[in-house]
Amino acid sequence: MILITGSAGFIGSNFTKYFLSKSKEAITSYDKLTYAGDLINFSSIKEKDLHSFIEGDISDEKKLNKILSELKPRAIINFAAETHVDKSIQAPEIFFKTNVMGTFSLLTSTVEYWRKLKKTEKENFRFLHVSTDEVYGSLDKHQDAFTEENSFKPNSPYSASKASSDHIVRSFNKTYGLPTLTSNCSNNYGPYQYPEKIIPLTIINLLNGKKIPIYGDGKQIRDWLYVKDHCRALLKILDQGKVGEIYNVGGRNQIKNIDLVELICNLLENFGAGKSNNLKNLIDHVKDRPGHDTRYEINTSKISNDLGWQPKETFETGMTKTVSWYLDNYEWIEKILDSGYSKWIKKHYK
Ligand code: NAD
Ligand code: DAU
Repeated sequence: MILITGSAGFIGSNFTKYFLSKSKEAITSYDKLTYAGDLINFSSIKEKDLHSFIEGDISDEKKLNKILSELKPRAIINFAAETHVDKSIQAPEIFFKTNVMGTFSLLTSTVEYWRKLKKTEKENFRFLHVSTDEVYGSLDKHQDAFTEENSFKPNSPYSASKASSDHIVRSFNKTYGLPTLTSNCSNNYGPYQYPEKIIPLTIINLLNGKKIPIYGDGKQIRDWLYVKDHCRALLKILDQGKVGEIYNVGGRNQIKNIDLVELICNLLENFGAGKSNNLKNLIDHVKDRPGHDTRYEINTSKISNDLGWQPKETFETGMTKTVSWYLDNYEWIEKILDSGYSKWIKKHYK
């Protein structure tokens, strides 16, 4: 069996479903259920006998020690993190508690468990740490895409906390020999993404006739990857990745924020959805994000050459699937808007 931490969030829940569709192996989800994690994200799982859930914090070593010795996973994938850049600007402390100290605790428990395994199980064990391209900082117009050799230049408390966690993972591999793997991925989009992030925020606001806040001039560029393509990459890294290595993952879809939002307006208009005759009128340029990264672009040569991974979705196919999913899953939107989301928004955006 494999253990997935932070699996009730966006990518973790998509990965859980992807893994269950590809394998008959059991999977245990471990999640603190913060405002960003919700059991509703597991509701469409068909293989219920293979999936179990434990509520818990990655900082809780005692609980983790017990779970690991009872469940004996052959692999752990760590998705658990605080993930929203704007929240990290407003309330940075929890980012360092969870992303840095939480990852350290999870690794401490993992290494204790791993040391006690028999020789073959020990050799075959893997710890996959899911990280972000934001650790590399920001590119200007003329700089080459990020490779695994780029130095870390994080600009937000979020990216600094993730960069620290990546370093801790590396140190547990180099010092204790723990068989780790790390992925650094670009912006994901798709079903079940929490509506604090630009794509679901835009879709949901347009459906409700609300303004779309675009930070600054909206010319910042992100590299978008459909979440299922990320899940495929993670499974490849887990199964075939070389121990101790880092793999960059990206969508090769660079688009300016303003163009992205206009594309969503066009898509919704094509679907006949949205509460306005001209959805683009809802675009509202607001104060820029402090320390806003200008551009991300990922060089995916390593994962492509070494593991044979390529994204399957184009931006057009992935965005059409995404918009359709939100239109078909209004119950999910309502449940999320009624729960942690509204409390979080009230607390942080007075
Ligand atoms: P998310 O915010 O949707 O989900 C995070 C999950 O972690 C939630 O279920 C939350 O309850 C859980 N969690 C938070 N603190 C925890 C703790 N202390 N113990 C246990 N669980 C805890 O995030 P996501 O977008 O699914 O991202 C998952 C991972 O992928 C993160 O590590 C993130 O840095 C990384 N990542 C995300 C993207 C992206 O575009 N979303 C891109 C690259 C990498
Ligand atoms: O690059 C990977 C990262 O992508 C992940 O590691 C993070 O967890 C994930 O949140 C995401 O970070 P971003 O800051 O790029 O994503 P977000 O959706 O918050 O913002 C995307 C861009 O849109 C960014 O340039 C800021 C801008 N933006 C965002 C929001 C929420 C706006 O203009 N207005 C908004 O309201």
